[in-house]
Amino acid sequence: MSAFLFFLLTDITSNSDAIIQKMVVVWGRTESFSSCVAQPDTWILCVETCFKTESCVMAVLDNTETCYTCAFNESMPNVQQTMKEDKVKVAFKVKVDESLVDKCPAGENPPTFDGVMAEGDASTTTPDGKIQNYTIAYTGTGWKFLVFSMARCLSECFFYRRPTIDWCLTLGLTIDANISYSQTSPLCQKYNLEFSGVASADELKGIVYQIKYYKAQESLPSLNVFVDAQRTTECQATPTTEKCMSIEGFNTVDKSVQNLDGYQFMTDASAGATIGKQCMVMVGDGVNDGKFDFVE
Ligand SMILES: *[C@@H]1O[C@H](CO)[C@@H](O)[C@H](O)[C@H]1NC(C)=O
Ligand SMILES: *[C@@H]1O[C@H](CO)[C@@H](O)[C@H](O)[C@H]1NC(C)=O
Ligand SMILES: *[C@@H]1O[C@H](CO)[C@@H](O)[C@H](O)[C@H]1NC(C)=O
Repeated sequence: MSAFLFFLLTDITSNSDAIIQKMVVVWGRTESFSSCVAQPDTWILCVETCFKTESCVMAVLDNTETCYTCAFNESMPNVQQTMKEDKVKVAFKVKVDESLVDKCPAGENPPTFDGVMAEGDASTTTPDGKIQNYTIAYTGTGWKFLVFSMARCLSECFFYRRPTIDWCLTLGLTIDANISYSQTSPLCQKYNLEFSGVASADELKGIVYQIKYYKAQESLPSLNVFVDAQRTTECQATPTTEKCMSIEGFNTVDKSVQNLDGYQFMTDASAGATIGKQCMVMVGDGVNDGKFDFVE
C-alpha cells in the first residue's frame, strides 16, 4: 500500500471572507442555554471572547450576572426582549456594512435596526471547518434565528487556510498496490484533485494524524507518503548548493507552498540525490513521523 498527499481546491477567493462584525447589545433573555458555556469573566471580557471566537454567535448575561458565550447551533434558541429592570442582556454578533467600521449602527430594536434583518457569520477555519451563517429577525417580542450550515470540505478531508487560498487536504491511498511518484499526478487528475506540498506546522500535524490513523486501520508497520516535490535534473548533480537545498531545487505543482520552512528532513534537502532518490516522502515509521526523506 502506498499513499500520497493531495488536496481539493475549495475556494480560490477565500480571503474575501473578510467581513466586519460587531457585537450589538440588547436587553434580552435566551430561551435555552444548550449551546452556551458559562465564562468566568466580566460581561465586557465575555463579550470580547465571543467576538474573537469564530463559532460564537452571542454572549448572554443572566440574572446572577453570569456571562455565557453561545456557539452556533443548528437550532439557535429564540431571544426574548426584556426591560432594563430585568438586568439580563444579550450581545449578538452581527455583520455590518463597511461604512460602519468606525461607527455604531443606529435604529430601533437592534440588531434588527428599524426592521431590517441582521446577518451574522460564525464560520470556522479549523480542520473540521464549517460555513455557518445566520439571519436574525425581530418577532415583535424578541428575536429568532434562521441558520445555514455546511462543511467546508468533504468527509475525510481537513480544512486549512493558506495565506492566499483555502484547501481541503487528505491522503490519497492505493490499497494492495504501491504506486510510483510519477503515477500520482495522473491519479490526482483522474479524480480532479491536486498533488500537495505542506504549507504549515498545522498541516503537518493533520497529515501525521491521518498517517497514524491509516496505519492503525490497515495494520501497517509504516506508511510513507509522497509529497509534491521531485528534485530537478540540474539539482541531482549539485544537490548541496543553496538553490538546490531550497524549494527551487524541486519541481512542484503546488505553487502555494513557496519554501521548505514547514519541512524537517531526516538528514537534509540534498539526501538521496546521488543514489537516485529524488522524490520526497513524509515518513510515517512510528519514530520519525512527519519528517521528510527521499525515495526513488
Ligand atoms: C443545539 O441545540 C439543541 C436544542 O437547543 C440541543 O438539543 C443540541 O444539543 C445543541 N447542539 C449542540 C452541538 O450544542
Ligand atoms: C448564508 O449565506 C449565504 C451566502 O452568503 C446566503 O445566501 C444565505 O441566505 C445565508 N443564510 C442565512 C440563514 O443567513
Ligand atoms: C509496497 O512497498 C512496501 C515497502 O517497500 C513493501 O513492504 C510492500 O510489500 C509493497 N506492497 C506491494 C503490494 O507491492
